[in-house]
Amino acid sequence: MRLSSLGGLTAEQFLRDYWQKKPLLVRNAFPGFDGLLSPDELAGLACLEEAEARLVQNKGDKWLLRRGPFSEEDFQRLPQTRWTLLVQGVNLFLREGAQLLDQFNFIPRARLDDLMVSYAPRGGSVGPHFDPYDVFLIQGMGHRRWQISTQGDQSLLPGAPLRILQNFQPEQEWITGPGDLLYLPPQCAHYGLAQDHCMTYSVGFQAPYAQELATQFLVHLQDEIRLDGIYHDPGLKTQAHPAQISTAMVRQVSRILSQIRWDQDQVARFLGKYLTEPKNSVFFDPPARPLSLAKFAQRAKETGIQLDLKSLMLFHSDTFYLNGESIDASQACNSLLTRLADRRELPPGTELGSEVENLLHQWYCAGYIVLE
Ligand code: SIN
Ligand code: CO
Repeated sequence: MRLSSLGGLTAEQFLRDYWQKKPLLVRNAFPGFDGLLSPDELAGLACLEEAEARLVQNKGDKWLLRRGPFSEEDFQRLPQTRWTLLVQGVNLFLREGAQLLDQFNFIPRARLDDLMVSYAPRGGSVGPHFDPYDVFLIQGMGHRRWQISTQGDQSLLPGAPLRILQNFQPEQEWITGPGDLLYLPPQCAHYGLAQDHCMTYSVGFQAPYAQELATQFLVHLQDEIRLDGIYHDPGLKTQAHPAQISTAMVRQVSRILSQIRWDQDQVARFLGKYLTEPKNSVFFDPPARPLSLAKFAQRAKETGIQLDLKSLMLFHSDTFYLNGESIDASQACNSLLTRLADRRELPPGTELGSEVENLLHQWYCAGYIVLE
């Protein structure tokens, strides 16, 4: 599956004119694409403990939301129409899912979130809503009617278990079929309605809230800062109220705290760790009987290696970040690690050198990379 067209736009033109600005419909962006997995396979994923799955049912103006993991019986009890199964993070389970994300490499990986796949019979929908992030909606099997609106009214249906717009006023409408792609910027209201057995692949991006960045940065900073000294008051005076926190105390503590400083390097280190930190539901599977370093190095050269589907790897300057850990690699390793981070694999025949072999062997033992 290959993204063959952005409607005649170059990646640069798309970013300049559409990204975070306005919707774009591209017919046949993925020629021949009709999906990566069957409805049954998606239901299978939704039964796994570690998958993030939801079932949304619509009965008249009532909406029902259930969260997975589900069982086979849950699916047997569903009606013929008007429900949707959604599974997040399909790229963590399916290599083809990760490869679909690779098609959007013209947008930095640091902005990427995951691949969500939905299945719905006729009439299935998650209702009119808006998302706070950018999304590319790729139609797999079947057809979906999309209505979109740039309306300012974002009031939500009170009491609904999911975010449904109360007064959706569609402005544009299309029916998408296999291989069609619809890009939506954040806050663009949309309503997708399955016309038949319909699967939609959503490539979603992440944009952290300022408050979340601040909170997480402060968590990061507490492990990084080292302040010297101790509170001291050799000139302590008596005070009328023993319970009063004196101005002198406030002043001294302000002085101590004003030593807390950070620079862009610190922010880069924070971002590297924060953006590659695995989600809580992610667990790696280290090999039960790992190969020795020598055997591993030989196999890695013969067959090549790949990042595990669950691994996240980014870099800034000379520092690499893998699954929340930072690696200050030597200059000699830089180009290999850059290649691994960008392409998520090192092909067979790659000359690794002992420093990279050692690093890769550690990551292999942790389950972060796999031999091809
Ligand atoms: C879906 O695939 O049913 C919903 C996608 C969306 O509206 O964001
Ligand atoms: Co949406």
